[in-house]
Formats: sequence, C-alpha cells, structure tokens
Amino acid sequence: MSVDPVLVRIDSDLPQSLERLKELLRIPSISTDPAYKADCDHAADWLVEDLKSIGIAASKRETPGHPMVVGHVDGPGPHLLFYGHYDVQPVDPLDLWDNDPFDPQIEETAKGRVIRGRGTSDDKGQLMTFVEACRAWKAEHGTLPCKITFFFEGEEESGSPSLVPFLTENAEELKADIALICDTGLYDSRVPAITTMLRGMLKEEITITGPSRDLHSGMYGGAAMNPIRVLARIIAALHDDNGKVTVPGFYDGVTDIPDELREQWDALGFDHKAFLKDVGLSKLAGEAGRSALEMIWARPTCEVNGIGGGYQGAGFKTVLPSKAEAKISFRLVGDQDPAAIDKSFRDMVREMLPRDFEVTFDSDGAAPASVMSIDNPAFEKARHALSDEWPDEAAFIGSGGSIPVAGYFQTLLGTESMLIGFGKDDDQIHSPNEKYDVESFHKGTRSWARILDALSKQ
Ligand code: BES
Ligand code: MN
Repeated sequence: MSVDPVLVRIDSDLPQSLERLKELLRIPSISTDPAYKADCDHAADWLVEDLKSIGIAASKRETPGHPMVVGHVDGPGPHLLFYGHYDVQPVDPLDLWDNDPFDPQIEETAKGRVIRGRGTSDDKGQLMTFVEACRAWKAEHGTLPCKITFFFEGEEESGSPSLVPFLTENAEELKADIALICDTGLYDSRVPAITTMLRGMLKEEITITGPSRDLHSGMYGGAAMNPIRVLARIIAALHDDNGKVTVPGFYDGVTDIPDELREQWDALGFDHKAFLKDVGLSKLAGEAGRSALEMIWARPTCEVNGIGGGYQGAGFKTVLPSKAEAKISFRLVGDQDPAAIDKSFRDMVREMLPRDFEVTFDSDGAAPASVMSIDNPAFEKARHALSDEWPDEAAFIGSGGSIPVAGYFQTLLGTESMLIGFGKDDDQIHSPNEKYDVESFHKGTRSWARILDALSKQ
C-alpha cells in the first residue's frame, strides 16, 4: 500500500473535506453550558455517522455528561488509538466576532486562506485532519494501514468529568500500542512539531462572603469590610514582585529542564518580542531570568481567569456587595501535586480572610503535568513523516496547554501518547474569531496519511 495515491486523493478531495468540516462546525457543541446539551449530542451523532460512512464500526457511548464516540477498524499494522474532542469553548463576548461563530466561512487573509469559526482549530478542524486522512486511505486502498480505534470526547473543554470512569470501564477496548492525540500546535508555519510535554491544571472558583446582604456604600461604607477588597488583596498576594507564585509549597516537584532540552529549545530561536507584539504587549510577565519558552512550556503559573462581584450593569450603583468571586487556575509542571497545591492554596486564602468572612471553593478538576516517552520508536518515524510534508524538519516542543487525557492514557490504559497537531499561535483558540489555516487542515491531513504509512512499517 503506497501513500502517494492517498496524498493525491487528499489534494483533490480538499473542497469536500472542508464542506464536511463546516457541517461539524455548524453544530454549537459548547460542553460547559447545559443549554447546548442537545448540540453536543448532535455533534457526537454526526461523528458516528461520518465514521460509519468510511466503513468504521462506530457508536455513541453515553456518559453522565456528554457522550463519547468510539470506533474500530482493523488493519495490518500496529494498533493506534486516535483522540480528539468535539466540544468547544463558549463564544462570548459575541460582539467581538466578525461573523457568526457557528456559521464557518473560508476567508482570504494576508497570511493565506483560513476557515473561521468556533472549534475550527480547537479541536474539530484538527480532529477531522485524521478522519480525512483515513477516508482517503480507505477510498484508495479499501483498507487502512494500521488497526485504529477512534476515541472522541465531548467534555475536554469542561474538565473531562466522565473521562476517568469511561477509560477505566473501557480500558480493555481502548488500549492500543500508541495513542495519537491531535489537539496541539505546529512550532510555526514551516516547522511541524511533536509535543513532548504538557502542563497540568488545577482550577478553583472561590466565593468570598462578608456582609449578609448587599449594602448601601454610603450607609455602611467605611464601617463594613467590602468582599471585593478582600478578594483583591488575596489575588494580589498570589504573586511576588519577581513573578513567582507565593502559594506555600507551590514549587515542590518543579525542576529545571535538562541542559540538553534547553539547548534544543534555544536552537528553535523563538522570537518572544514578535510573540508578544502580536498581542499588543512587549514585556514578559513570568519569573525574572527565565526565557519565554521556558515560562510557557516548563514553568508553573497562577492566573485569574475571571472575577466578579458588585454591580456590573450599565451606569453606577453605589453598592457594597455581600459577595465577590474569582475563577483561578494553576498550570502545573514536573511532579507538582495538584491535590497538595489545592490544599495549600485553600489554606492561604482562608488565612487571609478577615473576621466574619467566609469562603467557599468549587473545584473544577485537576490533572498533573505529563511528559511523553520519546524513546518509543514511533516518535522518530512520525518525526520523519512530518518532515517529509512540511518545509522544515519537525521539532520536539513543549506546550503550555493542558490535555489531561494524555496522562490518563498512560496511567489507566498503559498506552503512551504522541501529540501531533497543526494549530498556530494566532488561531485565537478560546477567543473571538477563532480560525484554522486551510494549509494546516490540508497539510495536517497529508501528514496523518504519511504518519499512518510510517507507523505501519516495521
Ligand atoms: N487544545 C487545547 C490545549 C492546547 C492549547 C494545546 C494550546 C496546545 C496549545 C485544549 O483543548 C484546551 O484548551 N485545554 C484546556 C484544558 C482545560 C479546560 C482542562 C486548557 O488548556 O485550558
Ligand atoms: Mn483542544
């Protein structure tokens, strides 16, 4: 079975592939918002039908949350487990989108053709690169070069609550020789990448309550403590002046990257000035003395993702609110223990509360960082296959994002993961006007065809 006719077919089928992707993108499968429950279900059904259309035995698998999609197809080569997620992030603020986020359009831009809409890059466009590669392979050769299990999740963007029980219950069915995860990025438009390190994640929503009801700030202001002031003080205390996180014990388990890795990363010549300039910034905000790539890929963080309290409507209301709240997340690296950090964070917050004040915590899942086993021969095979498709050679990179499933495949299935994706830093994932380069979609699909070919050979 040669890959060449498969590549030719991928090229000629590109318009139809984009049409199929658009169909999936039109389904607003926002997993975090219960209003879109039926849409998540619909997206799962769509994927089941699409897999069936290429002769893959697929089914929708119910969970207490959104369904999973599982498909199986036999083939001569090794057994691969492919993962992608069909759920997307909310679209607000909607008024910052130039078009309907769920009416995807192909646009010509100065940097080439893009498809714009929620989920184009994260992760429907990426997921479909693999499906399209399989479709072309099947159409050309009547069979696939490897045995493949497809596994699509619908809760990735909302903390994957059903993932661990599902993987535990279905471990025998899902375990494979290696997992392929398409949910990461290229290094840049010339350099494809295999991501070998992901950060972990810990999320806490905190609500601070003081006065028993909202108060008139003229009648009580000055005498009654304001919960927003308490919250602001806590948030301000989470970092020191050098950008370090102050939660006690936070850096336990964080080690410096090995010199060899630092040299590899330095050789990438990352231009942090351009990276920041692209988003209207010029100054790095992380720990003093660390490079930008290190800050993003190898150092832990604490970020406030949202903050609320008091009057948020138009105009002014001189209220002294009863409550204030914040959504705070930590990105974790190395052997940082999410449970230990969570406890220490909660203790720190409690200690900063004035008398009469209370705090409640609502945690939203946690996962440790993961590091891939690049000594597995599949990594070199995939690296060569990627290098054949893109202008420059493929790089091993880190990623600042979190994809908890990679760690769970390791611990619950005993299956190592290889993370290959075609997103770009300017894709605006999780933001308004998300896009995916048509080139990413096209060359990504071609890349998977080559990778399947490479992995099928001893
Ligand atoms: N695809 C992203 C992770 C990612 C982002 C990888 C950028 C590489 C580059 C993934 O869908 C995602 O956004 N994950 C969430 C996880 C969280 C909700 C548990 C994240 O990283 O915030
Ligand atoms: Mn994703």
